[in-house]
Amino acid sequence: MHVPKESNGKPALHPGNSDFIVVSNRLPVDRVPQEESDDGWRRSPGGLVTALAPVMASRGGAWVGWHGAPDEALEPFHHDNMDLIPVGLSAEEVELYYEGFSNSTLWPLYHDVIAPPEFHRTWWDAYRTVNQRFAHAAAGAAAKGATVWVQDYQLQLVPRYLRQLRPDLRIGFFNHIPFPPPEIFAQLPWRKEIISGLLEADLVGFQRASDTANFLRSARRFVGAGVKAAQVQSKDQDGKVVHISRAAPFPISIDVGQIQELAANPDVIARAKQIREDLGNPKTILLGVDRLDYTKGITHRLKAYGELLTEKTIKVEDAALIQVASPSRERVETYKQLREDVEGIVGRINGQHDTIQNTAVRYLHHSYPVEEMVALYLAADVMLVTALRDGMNLVAKEYVAARGDNTGALVLSEFAGAADQLKSALLVNPHDIDGLKSTIVRAVNLSPAESSRRMRAMRRQILTHDVQRWSEDFLTTLQTEAEPV
Ligand code: G6P
Repeated sequence: MHVPKESNGKPALHPGNSDFIVVSNRLPVDRVPQEESDDGWRRSPGGLVTALAPVMASRGGAWVGWHGAPDEALEPFHHDNMDLIPVGLSAEEVELYYEGFSNSTLWPLYHDVIAPPEFHRTWWDAYRTVNQRFAHAAAGAAAKGATVWVQDYQLQLVPRYLRQLRPDLRIGFFNHIPFPPPEIFAQLPWRKEIISGLLEADLVGFQRASDTANFLRSARRFVGAGVKAAQVQSKDQDGKVVHISRAAPFPISIDVGQIQELAANPDVIARAKQIREDLGNPKTILLGVDRLDYTKGITHRLKAYGELLTEKTIKVEDAALIQVASPSRERVETYKQLREDVEGIVGRINGQHDTIQNTAVRYLHHSYPVEEMVALYLAADVMLVTALRDGMNLVAKEYVAARGDNTGALVLSEFAGAADQLKSALLVNPHDIDGLKSTIVRAVNLSPAESSRRMRAMRRQILTHDVQRWSEDFLTTLQTEAEPV
């Protein structure tokens, strides 16, 4: 067993000492084979870690989560100003709880059933068992009266188990992905248990107002909860309110300072220039950056771009599309299928349109460090975010934060949470391929004046709403006592 060394000379964690604890399925770092990284650790994928890591690095506290490797038990350790408390998962639990219930039941169900969700009782049993384990780990680390902030769809039963173990705690929950309308949520055989699990939190946060409304409608419909102005009140036999759970939107954001700093860094600027040169200095670089996930609308984007090339509205000599698709959930069947589909489409587009000098789509099935991402944002004239459904989409916000000179165009799906804040983006319905095509053409030809006007408006929003503010808003609301309305 590998036990990471203490850094910063801090003593090992004593359970029961933490006043502030984040609980998420993943820790901010993943265990990887030694040959893939110098110290055996790598930054975990996805928006949740992108958003929470800077918050935790600055405020400190403990982070309870899985370290990404099955069948490996690790001791708590100190990293980047936090105590990391690993929760172990067996290979079977990875299959049933993580790949199964979390990512083949809840993920598609919560994302508009873009892929059909599967319902299996064995997966549900594993989900309950693992949620109990996370709750135990948090309960063991929390000081008296501590604040515990539970994250995302993998852990919706944790507020309930934690409340049973430690009634003294203040418990918040934040859902990073959409919450579906009750008409879709109704399919879940364990819909009551999920809603009751969440309602044990003092505050349940969502990305969008529509997610909050969906949750409250489900609370009313499936557990008969008394909902009054975003409060769900539990009463004793005498009708006295004994517990109030509140629900509200808290749109998540990014570490704006970090992205701005990198965007002004001479090495990053030089790298952006290099990227443009390596592509033969085309007039326009279009960019897509996503986890390789069927919710992201990558095939829709490629279809639109391919048709524009075929119709010669865009010429391969003038434009290049860079598509970063970072590997994700690679053992789940729908993700394997998506990879085949995407790679088939990219192959066909490139086969048809490439010249010896020019490649239509640079497809990169990798993840990259943030420095390289910012260089790509600086190099790209048009950013394409065409998700079919997305809780927020932080890539859209990072692109805007990086564009300090107010140039560039953002094509943004109205089905991404970010559309609520970035109203001056070029908004699209990605299912409407003709609409997507005309919006891409519009973005490519956007006048400098219009591009600047739109980018300024979006930057005003992003610069005043960073992820620190998001966490402060949530945690301040969580600390205030709810008055029955
Ligand atoms: C999304 C989810 C996160 C998840 C991330 C990466 O951002 O909201 O909870 O961690 O995707 O997915 P993975 O399954 O690799 O953790």
